[in-house]
Amino acid sequence: MPNRPYIVGNWKMNGTRAMLSEARAIDRAAARYPGVQVALAPPFTLIAAMAAEAQAIGIGGQDCHTAVKGAHTGDISAAMLADAGAKLAIVGHSERRGDHGETDAVVKAKAEVALAQGLGVIVCVGETLAERDAGNAEAVVKGQVAASLPDLPEEPQRVAVAYEPVWAIGTGRVAAVSDVIAMHRAIRATLTQAWGAEGAKVRILYGGSVNAENAGDLLAAEGVGGALVGGASLTAESFLAIVAAASSAREE
Ligand code: PGA
Repeated sequence: MPNRPYIVGNWKMNGTRAMLSEARAIDRAAARYPGVQVALAPPFTLIAAMAAEAQAIGIGGQDCHTAVKGAHTGDISAAMLADAGAKLAIVGHSERRGDHGETDAVVKAKAEVALAQGLGVIVCVGETLAERDAGNAEAVVKGQVAASLPDLPEEPQRVAVAYEPVWAIGTGRVAAVSDVIAMHRAIRATLTQAWGAEGAKVRILYGGSVNAENAGDLLAAEGVGGALVGGASLTAESFLAIVAAASSAREE
């Protein structure tokens, strides 16, 4: 079911083993929503434990290195993620781009190495508030997509793009549905330009202050193939409300 909505929780630098019970509850409940594809990206330290137990959800990493192995103290490779049981990797999150100076070229290299290791990838893009206020949001995001997207892989459906306006991340300030629709359309056009007809197979997710209240409207919006959820993915209760909203949005 390639067009199932894809709901991905990004735990960022949150979570110790005490939180495995939340993941367990999410996994158990996700089995009740076969029409929704659910994944969680915990910190690296929890991937193996979660992956060993997960049945209904995919477990992923929040980043990976551009190399498969080598002298890169503190880094984790896509091969290591796969070895730990991960099925996907998020790459190019704005916190990686911002905190670690990751460029589009680095993000592209990470996406390609993750695909080569058999993982799915979620390539994150999004404009800053200054860029939006200057009227440059679409140009910035289209540029990021064009330069961060991996070269056309054998299985393009393993790639998703997450549109996350930087000003909406962790701020409680969600993008207007009409702006999300317009941006997703622009991203789709860029994907088609890059990959031809195969560009239609890429799911485009929205991220940035998604919660139980706004998820229904966002997920029902034209061109929105799912959500990348930060804060609201940290408890089973708030995350499952979003999964439920995705399930109803699909039935409407
Ligand atoms: P948020 O984070 O849901 O807490 O805004 C989203 C993200 O950064 O992926």
